[in-house]
Amino acid sequence: MPTVNGFDRFRYPIRPELPAFLRGEDSGGPTMRKLCSWLDSLVTELESWPGLCVLQGFPEGIWTDHRAVLRFSELLGTPIPQDRHGTVVREVRDRGSTIGQGESTRYADSRFGGHFHTDGAEAGFPVPDMFALFCVRQAMRGGSLHLAHLRDVVRELAGQEAVVDVLGRPFHFHRRGDGTGDAEHTVAKPILFDHRGRPAVTYLRRYVELGHRQRGAPELTAGQHAALDAFDAAVDRTRKIEGRMRPDEVLIVNNLRTLHARTEFVDHPDPARSRLLLRTWISRDERRR
Ligand SMILES: [Fe+2]
Repeated sequence: MPTVNGFDRFRYPIRPELPAFLRGEDSGGPTMRKLCSWLDSLVTELESWPGLCVLQGFPEGIWTDHRAVLRFSELLGTPIPQDRHGTVVREVRDRGSTIGQGESTRYADSRFGGHFHTDGAEAGFPVPDMFALFCVRQAMRGGSLHLAHLRDVVRELAGQEAVVDVLGRPFHFHRRGDGTGDAEHTVAKPILFDHRGRPAVTYLRRYVELGHRQRGAPELTAGQHAALDAFDAAVDRTRKIEGRMRPDEVLIVNNLRTLHARTEFVDHPDPARSRLLLRTWISRDERRR
């Protein structure tokens, strides 16, 4: 049975020098090095369970300036584009759409709850190592996040070697309009893979189902269907961490070792007060060198 823990166990206060750094008032090398090493110590925790942390104590309204979002993300690694237009800071809000609508609609554009997934499921390798969510405004109701750790999901798949084997072979993921040229509507990649010697995951079932319906892509086999069902059932049985971000907080998530989902939310009738999160995708490769 899933248990609900909330984010409180994983909330950390920010360093006092961070706000001035984010505003560009103190971007000196010593401050930056100090902040990087502080964040690196948190990221070490992100590498293991639970694969997330929430930072609190940012000044009110700081994320309305996207430069602050970028400066923060650069402390973690290299912010990477989230679509073919090169969007680096993406607004996550209800755009009145549902997944599967049109060619390019994404999960982040709707207010509906949905399947567990990883970010960048529509992208080829390398998928983002991490993502950061910056809470500008919360919804009137709902909009909690649920996270499941891959370690726990894999445990739930114990004894199902055939399923794990299928999930380790390529599936065709729909590219949501990010492909270029002919026959680039999908990208083939495994759901479970090895990343620097550790198990990793990339997944969004709807994108896989849409991908296999594209011309040039094979239909899903019975074995693949069964493996997807078994994977979903394992995620379902896995204990979850459920939490809700507060305005001005930042959630950092290990996108290779966790899956996440969101509950449906109800927005404030005034669009100026509707739920708004900003999201960056971060590559850690530079930091590892
Ligand atoms: Fe997501």
